[in-house]
Amino acid sequence: MDGTSSDMWGGTGSSGTEKGAWLADSRFAMFIHWGLYSELGARWQGQTHYGISEWIMNRARIGVAEYERIAEQFNPVDFDAGEWVDLAAAAGMRHMMITSKHHDGFAMFASKVHPYNIATATPFGRDPMAELSAACAERGLRFGFYYSQTLDWHEPDGVGNDWDWPGRERDFQSYLRGKAIPQIEELLTGYGPICGIWFDCPGPITEDESREIVAMVRQHQPDCLVNSRIGNNLGDYDSLGDQEIPRLPRAGLWETPDTHNDTWAYAWYDLNFKSAGEIARRLVRVVSRGGTYLLNVGPDGRGRIPEASAAILREVGVWVHAHEQAIHGAQPSTLPPLAWGECTARGNTLFLHVFDWPTDGRLVVPGLAGRVWSARLDDGTALAYTALGSAAVIDVPRARPDGLIPVVTVQIEGGEIASGAQVVLSGCTNHLEPGLATLTGCAEQKVSWMEKFGDWHHAECVGGWTSASSCAWTFDTVEPGRWYLDIRYSCPADDDYSEWQVTLDGEMVSFPLLDTGEREHRKIGWGALPRFREYRVGVVTVPEAGSHTLAFGPTGEAGAGIRVEALRLSPVS
Ligand code: GLC
Repeated sequence: MDGTSSDMWGGTGSSGTEKGAWLADSRFAMFIHWGLYSELGARWQGQTHYGISEWIMNRARIGVAEYERIAEQFNPVDFDAGEWVDLAAAAGMRHMMITSKHHDGFAMFASKVHPYNIATATPFGRDPMAELSAACAERGLRFGFYYSQTLDWHEPDGVGNDWDWPGRERDFQSYLRGKAIPQIEELLTGYGPICGIWFDCPGPITEDESREIVAMVRQHQPDCLVNSRIGNNLGDYDSLGDQEIPRLPRAGLWETPDTHNDTWAYAWYDLNFKSAGEIARRLVRVVSRGGTYLLNVGPDGRGRIPEASAAILREVGVWVHAHEQAIHGAQPSTLPPLAWGECTARGNTLFLHVFDWPTDGRLVVPGLAGRVWSARLDDGTALAYTALGSAAVIDVPRARPDGLIPVVTVQIEGGEIASGAQVVLSGCTNHLEPGLATLTGCAEQKVSWMEKFGDWHHAECVGGWTSASSCAWTFDTVEPGRWYLDIRYSCPADDDYSEWQVTLDGEMVSFPLLDTGEREHRKIGWGALPRFREYRVGVVTVPEAGSHTLAFGPTGEAGAGIRVEALRLSPVS
């Protein structure tokens, strides 16, 4: 494993299948990381290892014999399957995926194949996976397993443990046949219908090996989905990078795995739980782009989901249950990016998720091809509207309605919904997306980096500049506007002070972009990664409604290493 994101997560490219329709319908699911590492909670011998805590065996180089001893104390007496499943249901989640065996090799189910499991090796002695599968079945949630097929630090022939067996020539086949495949078979045959098996970190697994696992899944449970991290592009759907939310609608069947704080498994110090509003916004961003949001919680060694995390999820659930039509089974909208929020759709019904409520009482819905038939608020209040070019202006109350995200539901006349044009709105913060630009002599680039260990971030950028490059957006405005133009970019030292220009409707202004520094993971030893920051170009003005072109690029040779994530137009007043 060289630590690149493709090594971690495998390629993507699965196109989705019919049997995966339920996944697109579910849209919101609970992911659970729970194992022996939860007992440590990121602390080993008095020292805290910051970052994703299910990696502690690896990070602290804990020998197999010592790590095994954790099992002797692991007694999650507070574990209550019904409580966890009730919480998922209360949050508005429709399925659950849980770690049956993570990279540490410890099975959280009663495995006959290997004694290193919760039922055999701990004082707890129960099979929590059986209890959870029963509780899910009872409450109508689908249930599936995470299984680490390649990394197994407990086994000399599994991949990854180079501290107990440095330089060992591994017989991966012997691990695969002796443990992984038979254990996956136990999961497929002993726990009722499994909605999916969530594989992870394919690393060096060969195509034949991935195929063999998939064939076994098909044999026992033809309806069980396999995610893309099985490796070798053999998944039924794409699990994007950890925390990765694409910026534009994306085709196929896919999900975003995300975690409530900055670690998957429990860490005693990590109280950085995303608020209910933030979770609702992330869920809506994922659904509005066509994906499913798999949100993780990390129960502790006693089997408790941290109370702060649970309380927040219940709050999210109040909103999700009140907006089921806008989430479960909803489709991405065909509208252009909306400066004030996101849109999900069901046929000709649009659900406008208004993140930034317009305090002037005018919600401008741009880029429409059809006429609006009706518009109403969450509480059913009918709203008046007028047409403004290809936009509709909906009269909304100036006071933001209550709730995590106010939703305005709009019915559009039959036929095409969107005109296809990008629209920049006055009085709102607009992002010009790399994915919607016309690129000449430059290209879209995706960059992924970690802040803390395993805490991934992603940026969709434009890079690969030459002196002839340009990146241009054509957009409409429906009213005059004045905005600040900011550029979010990263710049390595070599490109410090390179000169760039922006041209709006033929008017040019130039400016230097300064070095942003790089994030060097010296402690982890994983290369230099970009740092992003913003540069304010200044005020730009569009005196009237119409079509405009904004182009951006270097003025000369320099600046090849600069990555531009987005151009932002935010209101001056
Ligand atoms: C990464 C980590 C792993 C975690 C997973 C969740 O691949 O290696 O610990 O389970 O992401 O998506």
